[in-house]
Amino acid sequence: MSKDDHALMEASLIALGDAHDGMAAELFERYIAAHPHYAPVFIHPEAAQERMTRETLEAMMGQAAGEWWVESTVINFVDLHNNYADFTSEDYREWFDLTIDTMAKRTGNDWPKGASAAWQRQANRLVEMITRIGRVPLSGLQLAHTQQQIERKAHRDSGDDTE
Ligand code: HEM
Repeated sequence: MSKDDHALMEASLIALGDAHDGMAAELFERYIAAHPHYAPVFIHPEAAQERMTRETLEAMMGQAAGEWWVESTVINFVDLHNNYADFTSEDYREWFDLTIDTMAKRTGNDWPKGASAAWQRQANRLVEMITRIGRVPLSGLQLAHTQQQIERKAHRDSGDDTE
C-alpha cells in the first residue's frame, strides 16, 4: 500500500473535478493520433474510451491502495484485449503515460505537486504486472489467482485475520 501516493492521487482527482468531462475522448484522440494503426481495431470507440479511461484510473488507485482485486482486473483486461490485437506492454505503458499527462494538463495549475510522479509509480507497477501476465498462460494464472482468493477467504472465515 502506497498511502502517500494514494492521498496525492485522490487530491489530484478532486483538483481535476469537472475537467474530467471529455477527458476520455481527448485521451483516446491523442492515443490514436500517436498509434493510427490501432484505429481499425476499435468497434465501439465511444463506449470503449469511457470504460478504458475509468478502469485505468481505478486500476492505478487500486494499486496504490493495495487492493486485492487489482491483479484479477489486470488479468481480465489483458485477456479481453487479446481478442482485439496483439498489444504489447509498451502499448499499455504509453496509454498510462498519456492518461497521466492528459489529467495533469486538463487540471492546469491546480494539479498537486508530485501527483504525476505518484500516478506514474503505480502505472509502472501495473506495467510490470502486465509484462509478467503476458508471459504466463492466462488460464493457469487465473486458476492460481482463484485458488489464492479461496484460501484467503477460508483464512478470514477461520477468524484469523493475520495475512
Ligand atoms: C490500463 C489500460 C487499459 C484498460 C484498463 C482498458 C480497458 C478496456 C475495457 C474495459 C474495454 C471494454 C470496453 C467495452 O466493452 O465497452 C476495452 C476495450 C478495448 N481496448 Fe482497452 N484498456 C486499456 C488499454 C488499452 C490499450 C493500450 C489499447 C491499445 C489500442 C486498448 C485497446 C482496446 C480495444 C481495441 C478495445 C475494444 C473496443 C471496441 O470494441 O471498440 N486498450 N479496454
